[in-house]
Amino acid sequence: MILIQITIDGPAGAGKSTIAKMIAKRLGFIHIDTGAIYRVITYIAMQQNVCLDNEDALVQLIASTKIDMEQQAEGEQKVFCNNIDVSKEIRDPIISKNVSRVAVLPKVRQELVRMQRELAQDKNVVMDGRDAGTVILPHAECKIFLTASLEERAYRRYLELKQRGYNDELEFVKKDLARRDYIDENRKTSPLKPAQDAVIVDTTCLGPEEVVQEILRIYQEKKETLNNVL
Ligand code: DC
Repeated sequence: MILIQITIDGPAGAGKSTIAKMIAKRLGFIHIDTGAIYRVITYIAMQQNVCLDNEDALVQLIASTKIDMEQQAEGEQKVFCNNIDVSKEIRDPIISKNVSRVAVLPKVRQELVRMQRELAQDKNVVMDGRDAGTVILPHAECKIFLTASLEERAYRRYLELKQRGYNDELEFVKKDLARRDYIDENRKTSPLKPAQDAVIVDTTCLGPEEVVQEILRIYQEKKETLNNVL
């Protein structure tokens, strides 16, 4: 069987995790949410009062932290930190607000990229993040860059937060997304950008199922090309 790896990168709120989860379920692939890993490190650092700008302390913390991901039958993914389920805690707005401080640090990225590559090694995976197609899996067979207008992404994130009981103003959510986009796109180490061979999918006017169908079409095309080459 040929190995096919799918990467889905893009800005916050473009729907990467939702779509990656759906695609992984349809294809029977493993879903690796790389953002969740940055979130776990931010969470554990805050729990242990480790300064979020102290690169060396964070690298030490990574070495002593066990991160596991477990796919549930319904497609949901549970994230464990040192054997404790932190799936809910890592989505708290306080983590969203602080995680880019951690994700900007080169040594932290180096350690986490190593961990992410190990998780994907010799497996059919759908990996979502910011640098999955450019840095983590540069040889992935199918690369997608998922995007949507800032307004649409902010509205989606606003609805999601509301559903989870947070009543942040839409304008505040939009400003926070724009701030995170700026940090992700302008950091020195592996900034957010489409890989040269990525297909850009704009989801502003598309529902999740339409996005999934479009990505599955791109995947089939890549797979046929690969089959013809082998
Ligand atoms: O996708 P997310 O919102 O859960 O990502 C959390 C943070 O981690 C976000 O600030 C971007 C960063 N991130 C990153 O720098 N590289 C990745 N591969 C994934 C996420």
